[in-house]
This record gives sequence, C-alpha cells and structure tokens, in this order.
Amino acid sequence: MILAGRDLISINDFSNEEIEAVLNLADEMSSALEKGKRLDLCQGKELYTIFYEPSTRTRSSFETAMHRLGGTVVSHAEAQVTSAVAKGESIADTVRVLERYADVIVMRHPLDGSTRLAAEHSSVPVISGGDGAHEHPTQTLLDLYTIRKEKGAIRGKSVALCGDLRHGRTVHSLAIGLARFGAEIICIAPPDFELPDHIRDTLKAYRCKLTEYESLEGVVDEGSLVLHQAETSSRRGGARVGSGGQEGFMSFLLENLDVLYFTRLQRERLPTGEIGDAAEESYRINRQLLEKSRDDALIMHPLPRTGELAYEVDHDKRAAYFRQAGYGVPVRMALIALLLGAVERRISEGQKKKIPKPAKDVCGVRCPNGRCVTNAECYATAKFCQVNPQLLRCYYCDWLVQVA
Ligand code: NCD
Repeated sequence: MILAGRDLISINDFSNEEIEAVLNLADEMSSALEKGKRLDLCQGKELYTIFYEPSTRTRSSFETAMHRLGGTVVSHAEAQVTSAVAKGESIADTVRVLERYADVIVMRHPLDGSTRLAAEHSSVPVISGGDGAHEHPTQTLLDLYTIRKEKGAIRGKSVALCGDLRHGRTVHSLAIGLARFGAEIICIAPPDFELPDHIRDTLKAYRCKLTEYESLEGVVDEGSLVLHQAETSSRRGGARVGSGGQEGFMSFLLENLDVLYFTRLQRERLPTGEIGDAAEESYRINRQLLEKSRDDALIMHPLPRTGELAYEVDHDKRAAYFRQAGYGVPVRMALIALLLGAVERRISEGQKKKIPKPAKDVCGVRCPNGRCVTNAECYATAKFCQVNPQLLRCYYCDWLVQVA
C-alpha cells in the first residue's frame, strides 16, 4: 500500500515506478469503463475539491473520476468568495476543518507552495490541482499518459514546449516528468517567458537534453527568423542564427518533433501593463505550420487556449488536446484509488520516492518569490533544502536562493 495516504503536490513526490503504477492502473480503469463495468472501489469515501482559481477540466474530471469510482464529492468552486477565506481564514485552518469531512482533498490555489502548506496541515491526502505558477502534477500525469498511449513511449521522444514557460505551471511539472522519463525537451518561449531557473536547474540534474528557441513564427515567416539557442546550463546568449539556421530549424521541426505542447500566455500572472500580445504571436500554431510538421506528430495543449492554437488545427488527426483532456478521468480515477488505498500496487523497495527534507539550520532567510505562500500566510515559516553550500531551494515553491 505504498501510495495510500500520500500527497501529490509536485511531480517529484512520486518516483518513476510510482508514476507508472498510476498510468498502468489508468489503462485498466479506462478499459473497464469502455466495457461499461461499474467500479465501486471508493464507495463510502468522500472527495472534497476546493478551488480558489477558475477551472473547467481539473475540477470536473476529478469529480467525475470520484463518481465513477462510486464515491461522493463535495465541491467548492470559487472558494476565494464562497469559503471563509473571504473572511480571512488561513489555508491551515481551512484544511484542518476539511480533513474532518473528507477522505481526500483536491486544492487549487493562486500562491506558489500553497498546496504543500495545506498538505502539512492535513491528515488526509492532499492533491494539488495547481499552485500558482509552481506546479500542476496531475496534469502531468495525464500528459505523460497521453504521450505514452498515443506515441507508444516517452523515452527518446522529442517534445517541444511552446508558450509562456515562465508562468505556466503545467509545463514546469511536465518538463521534470519528461526529463525523468528520458525525453528530449525543446523550449520555444519568447524573451522573459522562458523556463524559470529552478526548473532549468532540475532538468540539468536529470541530465536532460534541452534546447531553447525564442520563436516559432520564423518557421513559417521565412524572411525574419531570429533564433536563440542555449545549452541546458546557460541562459540564452542571444546568438543569432542566419538562414542556414532557419533551414536547420525547419527541417529539425519537420523531422524530429514527436510532440508540440502549447500553453497559453498566463495573463493573470503578468504584472499590469505587461500583456505580451507580441509574445503570443511568436508561438502560434495554425494549419500552415502544421503542414510543415511530421505526419505522426502530436499537438497537445492543457487548455484553455487563447490565441496560440488556431481552431483550424482541431480537425487534424494530430490535434490530441481534447483526447488528452478526456484521459484526465481514468488517470485521476487511478490516482484517487491508489491514494485512498482502494487499489494496492507494490513498488519495489529501492523505487519508493524519497522526498527531500528541509535543512534544519537555515534561519532568517526569506523566499525571494513574492508569490510564495511563506510570504503571505503569517504562520508559515520559510524552509529550504540545501542544494550545495551556496544554494538553497525553497521547500514550498522551489525558487533558488544564493547564500554567501
Ligand atoms: C491549466 C492550469 O490551470 O494551469 N489548465 C488545466 O488545468 N488544464 C493551464 C492554464 O490555465 O493555462
């Protein structure tokens, strides 16, 4: 019963074998549902969803998943106005109450690290439905499931992550998941929207092959391509790639990309005024670009889309995003059943995930991330894991802090 009672806050809370256990069980759940079988594995169990941010897919697929497992659901949408948080109640107190009613809690919250803080105060499993710009681990489970199901494997696949890679949480968890399962990552993000340093640092630790570009536009607009490329370890150097590079990039796109994963600009997390319409233009996919991509490429998107994904792409067999959203139900059924101990999967001893503990002797350091929960909830103490003698990692939001 290795997964029973566990939380899922970061994709790094589960080992590869544990992730595979969820994906394999999702396959079983999916075929049982297709055969019209009733699955009453979670009868008598109650799932609470508490969402402080809007959601279409995550909340409804969790709720559908629990219904299909025979359990019951209590749903708090718009918790920022409908719960006592509107009266100033803390995350800790909210969770200490909900744990008395619920067997498992799914929380979405705008602060980075908020769901980790919630899990610390809860005796029942807490699953993150997304915490600020930090992570969205269950989206990654279904993204990995989609790639595995539709491309046969994750290892060795070339996956392009396109869009607002700085503020989008789905791509943070996904990049880590892809690196751990041996995929190659190609980032296409305009300046100021690249992967944050703490994710780059994690990918480096997994020895992931990572290449970064700042535009997809150039691929279709043959006259005006400027590409920047960098190694995993360095920031973009601003090297210009001429027309040879453009040709190189085009054929690279045509011949090598197995998956193009798009994300929207996270406007709600941008400072006022920094709206970034031009940024969005630089990674738009339409039919013209699709024609240049491989026949068996997969176009993925966590949704919702804004301008980056043209509706004309929807009718192409490579457009996988609605199928991807559909896989959310069996994947979340599998996760709930495992965390509630309704299904047992043995994980070999060496393959259990060891979650790093915060260092004991770090005092007086604050997390530099203004959106970190430790800078917002007065009872929350900043905690850090020691990366090396000069570098700390926030236990809640993963931001890196240099120390003298
Ligand atoms: C994502 C999210 O909430 O982070 N949506 C989702 O859960 N499928 C993506 C987004 O909002 O852009």
